[in-house]
Amino acid sequence: MKKGWQSLVAKYFQRKGLPLDLALAFPDVIVRDKYSTINSRSDVRNLRSNLAGDVFLNIPIVSANMDSVTDSKMAIALARLGALGFIHQFLSLEERVLEVERVKRADNAFIEKPATLVLQEDATTLAKAKGAMRNFGVSSLLLIDSENVLLGILTARDYRFRSDDTLVKDLMQYMPLFTGSPGMTREQATEQFSKYRLEKLPIVDRNGKLKGLMTARDVLKEQEFPDAVRDKKGRLLVGATIRLNSDYLQEARTLWAAGADVILLDTARANSRRVRDAVVAIKKKLPKVPLVVGNIDTPEAAWMLIKAGADCLKVGIGPGSACKTREATGVGIPQLTAIASCAAVARKFNVPVIADGGIRCGADLAKALVAGANVVMLGSMLAGTDESPGKRTYDGGKAFKIYRGSASAAHQFDRIDKGSLDKIRSPEGVTRQVPYAGPVTELIAELVGDLRSSLSYIGARDLENYWRRGIFVRQSTAGYEEGKPKS
Ligand code: XMP
Repeated sequence: MKKGWQSLVAKYFQRKGLPLDLALAFPDVIVRDKYSTINSRSDVRNLRSNLAGDVFLNIPIVSANMDSVTDSKMAIALARLGALGFIHQFLSLEERVLEVERVKRADNAFIEKPATLVLQEDATTLAKAKGAMRNFGVSSLLLIDSENVLLGILTARDYRFRSDDTLVKDLMQYMPLFTGSPGMTREQATEQFSKYRLEKLPIVDRNGKLKGLMTARDVLKEQEFPDAVRDKKGRLLVGATIRLNSDYLQEARTLWAAGADVILLDTARANSRRVRDAVVAIKKKLPKVPLVVGNIDTPEAAWMLIKAGADCLKVGIGPGSACKTREATGVGIPQLTAIASCAAVARKFNVPVIADGGIRCGADLAKALVAGANVVMLGSMLAGTDESPGKRTYDGGKAFKIYRGSASAAHQFDRIDKGSLDKIRSPEGVTRQVPYAGPVTELIAELVGDLRSSLSYIGARDLENYWRRGIFVRQSTAGYEEGKPKS
């Protein structure tokens, strides 16, 4: 008798029009169009997709957990649009916590843990306050005493032209200030902002203790991004990555406590006993944490990780544009087949799949979803945008940003400098320049437009229907070439 996953894969591949004896990449197939009652892409409004556990996205896109792709800036920008960013693992745990907290504080009408500093009258200088603001990623601070009682506020206009050695006590605005009380609604706060032309409204209880902060800017931001993905408290969603080589349980617990909505256990080879044991341990201690695990590329690995407790599988060994794994090791299944093989198993158990790597355009994204992925992960496409961490460079009059593989030599040297790696291993990634791509909003809008159009060709109004209706036809190299725009 065939093993569980084998019969699932056989049936799934037959249904999708895929061969079992040949591994395919995105260009090897094309999605077959179907009779459609949808008149145009604008009739496709629902691109909601499950990422892991009870976490859903409004756009099926996440950013790669790479140091040249995702920190809080990218994560904030994506969550505003309905997608999600995974803070990368090449930061210390403390730094990752700060990044997660930055996302959680952004655009949230009610900030539960605002940026604060305990005021020491004759010791707190402007330099110290600026340092705290830099860490929090904000431009104003609430000053409290050691009992968390609000003493006052320091805003940009209070310190703009002052020297760093000035004492904060001589600059800040003291209580009584306009404040709100716990339980204040967005509407009540908006009324205060408008009536008294306020920017910020600290929330204090009857004893004067600080309980939160509401800001006019964030109330407006909430309205500006209606598709944003938010948690139950109205905060933007964010993912955070943990390392297999550290105390992964402690990392997961700390990042979850900091507000991360999804935890990603990321390693080059997740089809291993070490990873299985880690998944079992994390799910045992932290059963509520939506846990993404990767990377894998075979149905048996999908089966094993689902049995271990994974809430989402990240699929892709070697398809990424900065990857050298396949060239260096000869290992890794071409990505379309890898996605379909893992999805054949994962769909059976209602466990979402992230297609990670090799997506260069709308067509690849569409094919990944038809093959069974719930969400795609983008690296190089996002690395060129304004929101990626790298600086813009110029070469021959053209603008670029640096994109580096997580296993590239440059990346490894960096980690050795920071003390998180002992020695250089044979690089399985490269560093390269990617063309500067402008704001991430524009790139995502284009991809979303392409995807909506693709759904309309298949006659699907949502992604579940798209996956059910979508099947592939294999194409020749000439067929692939025919479909490319000619200059
Ligand atoms: P794209 O094609 O979107 O791929 O740039 C992003 C994914 O590539 C993977 N990645 C690597 N794979 N060596 C590898 O074999 C590396 O150095 C490396 N760096 C990133 C990763 O899965 C990422 O999400």
